Amino acid sequence: MKPWIELGSAQIPNNGGTLTLRQRDQEFSISLSGPRGELMNSRRFHSEQQLSILGCAHLKNREKARVLVGGMGMGYTLAAALEAVPASADVIVADLIPEVVEWNRGPLGDCAGRPLDDGRVTVHIGDVAELLVAPKEQYDAVLLDVDNGPEGLTHSDNNWLYSVEGTSCIYKSLKPGGVLAVWSASPDAVYASRLKKAGFQVEVKTVRERPGKGARHAIFLAKKPAGKRGG
Ligand SMILES: C[S@@+](CC[C@H](N)C(=O)[O-])C[C@H]1O[C@@H](n2cnc3c(N)ncnc32)[C@H](O)[C@@H]1O
Repeated sequence: MKPWIELGSAQIPNNGGTLTLRQRDQEFSISLSGPRGELMNSRRFHSEQQLSILGCAHLKNREKARVLVGGMGMGYTLAAALEAVPASADVIVADLIPEVVEWNRGPLGDCAGRPLDDGRVTVHIGDVAELLVAPKEQYDAVLLDVDNGPEGLTHSDNNWLYSVEGTSCIYKSLKPGGVLAVWSASPDAVYASRLKKAGFQVEVKTVRERPGKGARHAIFLAKKPAGKRGG
């Protein structure tokens, strides 16, 4: 078997460690320094696609749908979101790490079919939280895969996204009928309950890392009821 070749590395803000991109033949891997190890692998992306398929299922015929994807990773969630929404949609993808976006414009891009070349995409380099604090109902879907689950792993500030305050801000940022979908390595009853207390209708779906096989992960699907405005 061919050896892994290192293609690049990047620092995560606030001493969050180092991300390293490696390639072996057609396989790519992004790993985090320290015990967590591999974060993403281009051979396992079914659950990342399911995040968009489930989170955007209500947007198939929604003109001018506005979708926020956090983060970019290897682009599978972004590419599946673009598949799920009409040509008139706006899809914003946020990633904290500029190098991750550069890698997707370069060697990683073919993994998910170069979603950054799609004219519906706007890139935000920075914290996805910055796009969730405006007191404005603007998104039809918010798709979050920035950690291993509802706790800040790659970036300690991410805890805000899953906190009572963050959950309430995300609720307010969604249009009535809008959906927050959150990828998690495993279910989390406390987080599901927090989503319900914020006003969401919540389902937790089990998804596999490969179609019909591999590890089981969870997707929190939290819908803002259609008749509700504000928070
Ligand atoms: C597990 S990967 C996402 C994988 C992606 N769903 C895919 O389909 O490949 C997590 C990504 O989130 C980014 N990230 C972590 N915290 C973030 C934040 N607060 N705002 C934006 N991006 C963040 C990381 O840089 C990384 O690229």
